[in-house]
Amino acid sequence: MSTNVVVVGVQWGDEGKGKVVDVLAEHFDVVARYQGGANAGHTVLVGTKKYVLQLLPTGIIRPDKTAAIGNGVVLDPEALQKEIGKLEAAGSNVGHRLKVSDRAHLILPYHRAHEVAAESARGVGKIGTTAKGIGPAYEDKAGRRGLRICDLRDPALFREKCNAIVAEKNRIDAALYGAPPQNAEELTNQFLKASEGVLPYIADVSVYLNTDMDRGKRVLFEGAQGTLLDLDHGTYPFVTSSNSTAGGACTGTGVGPTRINAVVGVSKAYATRVGGGPFPTEALGPEGEKIRERGSEYGAVTGRPRRCGWFDVPVARYSARINHLTALIITKLDILDPLPEIPVGVEYEFKGKRFKDFPPEIESLEQMKVHYRTIPGWQKHTYGSQEVSQLPERAQDYLKFLADEVGVKVAMVSTGPQRDQCVWLDKSVICP
Ligand code: GDP
Ligand code: IMO
Ligand code: MG
Repeated sequence: MSTNVVVVGVQWGDEGKGKVVDVLAEHFDVVARYQGGANAGHTVLVGTKKYVLQLLPTGIIRPDKTAAIGNGVVLDPEALQKEIGKLEAAGSNVGHRLKVSDRAHLILPYHRAHEVAAESARGVGKIGTTAKGIGPAYEDKAGRRGLRICDLRDPALFREKCNAIVAEKNRIDAALYGAPPQNAEELTNQFLKASEGVLPYIADVSVYLNTDMDRGKRVLFEGAQGTLLDLDHGTYPFVTSSNSTAGGACTGTGVGPTRINAVVGVSKAYATRVGGGPFPTEALGPEGEKIRERGSEYGAVTGRPRRCGWFDVPVARYSARINHLTALIITKLDILDPLPEIPVGVEYEFKGKRFKDFPPEIESLEQMKVHYRTIPGWQKHTYGSQEVSQLPERAQDYLKFLADEVGVKVAMVSTGPQRDQCVWLDKSVICP
């Protein structure tokens, strides 16, 4: 029997999923992305090489692994080819190791244009999206007017479908924004030409993954974004447009839930968020600033400064439930090294009522009073630690406190961006 694991972000993305997936991938045969698109930015450091993966599953940087992009991903063919080009220029050979689902939806130029228009129309309420066309592409998917990877195989049919869609978009754009019409023929021809390089990678990813699993191969599902950015379970409407939670791994690849054996949640030892929306434990002022500088908290995709704050227990408990987390992996512990004390948000209070669960209305989240527990800092180096014995007692106490509060064990702690900078506390989740 193969043992397959999903890796999800516990918070608002950028938890260090890329680094974690790179470490775990050693024990798997295939790494599969199941949702999102090039809005993801997963940074991995291997020696002196730095990789920022947006569409490609992180497993691709290990030469003996294969990588799959599932049907749940929205794919920009040019972005994919650029990323492959960069990786190959850095010495990796992608070749047959990449499979792109024939059912994944395509991002077309009008998706990016619509996103920019919609964001500027929102004014102060803007979401702060990554401008990669993600939301509009998923809108078309749900609206049943999307174009898929498999459509690229028949250019004549693609032209027909695309022309009809552009004609409809032109009518809407003219009525709403008085925008001049786009030339459907030109757009289609350019897009088809620009997409040719994707054709060799097209596969039925569900067949591929299930067949591999039948043969006892192990699949690691790599989530993008985080639980609080999930379309259904996140801080709606300040979310992305896909299911970044564990359930998305099934719908986004065509693998049934009973084939998944464990779900690992990645969380920073503190918290960050990029873009708009509620962030109850946000540390404004110099405290947040210090974390941002020490943790280099700037977006990998857009370069925007990330908002910084403290570990939020209600968020992590919520994430533990939604994903039914088997274990936690805590990253960036080293960033907290110099702090004399570390606040942890343990309970919420709204209109005089205290509660531990996570409410759905962003209006209440924005006004949430957070009750903190202050944990003594360790003020010693944990950077680069590889053994539990190298972690100061207070750092171990901090981890134990988080595990107890969230109700999920900590399997691994990351102590630096490099592959070998981590401490295993319990490897049984990954190597049963
Ligand atoms: P992802 O989107 O969840 O993959 O996370 P990002 O890659 O966007 O952001 C995490 C950042 O932290 C990256 O720059 C990583 O190289 C870095 N990183 C990951 N784990 C650690 C760690 O334990 N310590 C330190 N100092 N940096 C880390
Ligand atoms: P990784 O995989 C952090 C945020 C955007 C914005 C909202 C919607 O690196 O963790 P979108 O472009 O998806 O429509 O934007 O979601 N966002 C992320 N924040 N990490 C990410 O990915 C993100 N992907 C999207 O900033 O607030
Ligand atoms: Mg990221």
